[in-house]
Amino acid sequence: MAMDQINGKVCVTGASGYLASWLVKRLLLAGYHVTGTVRDPGNERKLAHLWRLEGAKERLQIVRANLMDEGSFDDAINGCQGVFHTASPVLKPSSNPKIWYALSKILAEKAAWEFCGHNGIDLVTILPSFVIGPSLPPDLCSTASDVLGLLKGEKEKFQWHGRMGYVHIDDVALCHILVYEHQNSHGRYLCSSTVVDNNELVSLLSTRYPLLPIPERFELLDRPYYEFNTSKLTSLLGFKFKSIEEMFDDCIAWFDEQGYLC
Ligand SMILES: NC(=O)c1ccc[n+]([C@@H]2O[C@H](COP(=O)([O-])OP(=O)(O)OC[C@H]3O[C@@H](n4cnc5c(N)ncnc54)[C@H](OP(=O)(O)O)[C@@H]3O)[C@@H](O)[C@H]2O)c1
Repeated sequence: MAMDQINGKVCVTGASGYLASWLVKRLLLAGYHVTGTVRDPGNERKLAHLWRLEGAKERLQIVRANLMDEGSFDDAINGCQGVFHTASPVLKPSSNPKIWYALSKILAEKAAWEFCGHNGIDLVTILPSFVIGPSLPPDLCSTASDVLGLLKGEKEKFQWHGRMGYVHIDDVALCHILVYEHQNSHGRYLCSSTVVDNNELVSLLSTRYPLLPIPERFELLDRPYYEFNTSKLTSLLGFKFKSIEEMFDDCIAWFDEQGYLC
């Protein structure tokens, strides 16, 4: 990217979401002017955390846009040097929600590559694993409430993880900006710190937090062993991911501060 694009004007879609809020925070701290899109700019409760961010009053603008309305992002994107597209419509099918979610991610990314290829748009995708960390929005997103459930002894939401990659929310935001600012970024970037199976995770957590009613054991699923190759971020761009201990420590400290663990 050209130097004049750094600290320029960028758009973040779905700006009030879990991941996007943290990205807006990091972009503002880095000096960017941010246009954030939301479906309802009149919803003050849902947006208050964004207005409290450092630099928001000077460099944040919130506008209305809905993925279901053709052309509704045009005004938000006009005049921006870059777009961080995180908004995602969540449809809740009655059966196999995890499979539908995975399918929707694959199809959305495929459509983005096709559209950008045909329209000469420079696209780079960041693929985070399961995101862990303090939440800025007032309501817990489903990922954060699954983690809270685990800390309170629930197994159901984590059972399907089997083996899963985890990444700190701050690292996801920082990686988006690192890749955006790097001149030779291209293609897909797997964004994940550590892959562990459920039993490794609960063993680690219950050793660190013996007073929390974390489940003792999970039935292990018959899943192939895998790791993520994150060398495009680590070796090529020099990114250093926070450890799994650090991400859960930050997340648990935040749940505690907010009174969720009582
Ligand atoms: N959380 C994770 O562990 C994780 C891991 C990997 C990838 N991801 C991906 O990261 C992205 C953000 O996830 P998240 O966890 O931050 O979810 P989130 O908190 O639910 O944020 C999604 C945002 O999308 C917006 N949205 C929903 N429907 C929309 C529509 N029709 N038009 C415009 N905006 C719409 C919502 O904003 P408004 O209601 O304010 O408009 C919402 O704030 C998603 O694509 C998700 O699949 C998340």
